[in-house]
Amino acid sequence: MNAQPKPALSPTELDAFWMPFTANRQFKANPRLLARADGMRYWTVDGREVLDAVAGLWCVNAGHGRREITEAVTQQLNTMEFAPTFQMGHPIAFELANRLAAIAPPGMDRVFFTNSGSESVDTALKIAIAYHRARGAGQRTRLIGREKGYHGVGFGGMSVGGMVNNRKIFGSSMVPGVDHLPHTLDLGHNAFSRGLPHWGAHFANELERLIALHDASTIAAVIVEPISGSAGVILPPVGYLKRLREICDKNDILLIFDEVITGFGRTGKPFAAQSFDVTADLMTTAKGLTNGAVPMGAVFAQRKIYDALMQGPENAIELFHGYTYSAHPVACAAALATLDIYEREGLLTRAATLAPKWEDAVHSLRGTKHVIDVRNYGLIAAVELDSRAGKPGARAFDVFLKCFERGVMVRQTGDVIALSPPLIIEEKQIARIVETLTEVIRDTD
Ligand SMILES: Cc1ncc(COP(=O)(O)O)c(C=O)c1O
Repeated sequence: MNAQPKPALSPTELDAFWMPFTANRQFKANPRLLARADGMRYWTVDGREVLDAVAGLWCVNAGHGRREITEAVTQQLNTMEFAPTFQMGHPIAFELANRLAAIAPPGMDRVFFTNSGSESVDTALKIAIAYHRARGAGQRTRLIGREKGYHGVGFGGMSVGGMVNNRKIFGSSMVPGVDHLPHTLDLGHNAFSRGLPHWGAHFANELERLIALHDASTIAAVIVEPISGSAGVILPPVGYLKRLREICDKNDILLIFDEVITGFGRTGKPFAAQSFDVTADLMTTAKGLTNGAVPMGAVFAQRKIYDALMQGPENAIELFHGYTYSAHPVACAAALATLDIYEREGLLTRAATLAPKWEDAVHSLRGTKHVIDVRNYGLIAAVELDSRAGKPGARAFDVFLKCFERGVMVRQTGDVIALSPPLIIEEKQIARIVETLTEVIRDTD
């Protein structure tokens, strides 16, 4: 299908939109405008085809332009465009929660709906604190995140997050009582590991040090991404997540997995918790939940957490938290249609089938000029480049731009190129991504 070219925007037409996580001035001087998408591809406003190697922004797991989602959304809009979920309900919200519980890790069968990953994270942190209070441990309010973690941009998520640029200018506005585990990235020991690195499980023991410092009785929860995405794909060393789980169990601390990018098939199982055989107490999701078609997030909770909060007089609200658009009917319709596609096409496990080919393909970049590491798991990969002296991120940004010019959309963070294609990807498209990346890196100073 050919895209109909759209008129380009004039410089003044680009002014008003203050773009998120974007170098606005650089972008507006040289805009990269997408107009249409289908399957594995985008088309730019001038009709150029671009292969999507990042599922939009880690969300379009079933590929673009899925007709079933469009139809479900259209039908829902025609039937009931909005219904409140405060003291009211509508059937497909309950249907969706049940469908999600059925694919969730063991026991995670209570679902709270949000509109984004950031909202899911702040919701999970609040549930953790409320849970302890409901059990008579109201002094457990401290939260533990991890260096290089990304948990969105709300004040809670920013505070437990560990990416310096997201934090440094908001220093004194952070949620108090937060500490951080060390990150687990260590190229000295683990560069070019295939799949999970074997060195580094001991980093989890740092949680014991933080417990010794603050006392377990003050700590509500530990939040980590099973695989960090935004900081440049950091994989958990073998045994690391299990060890975190053990330490949390021993100290009555809740473990939260932020699965906003790893959820919905990215690792080869519905959730990374299942790939790594470690179950959390709370799990945050968004992105792939609706294939990116309508904003929606969901927090999964172990039933014991929900039950602990179902206290007090029956007519009292148990948790003073929620969003006008929690379980928005249009988002629910999109999510149900998305789950149908995932199940019908086996997409929640397809990454596991493709992973060996993916791994071989991305590791072929080893030995290419500038490449200092390649990391992979499921249908995720990162290619780390050495930084230009005094200009961190500049080389990878150039690579990102040139890949786009040559028809492949990748994602750059620091000097890392991250890849997370739609789960419908075919082998020839994997080859195309890796060939383009190899050529571009070779051609970049
Ligand atoms: C692990 C993780 N948590 C939370 C978020 C925030 O999600 P959103 O941008 O939908 O608020 C992201 C976004 O990339 C993420 O990767």
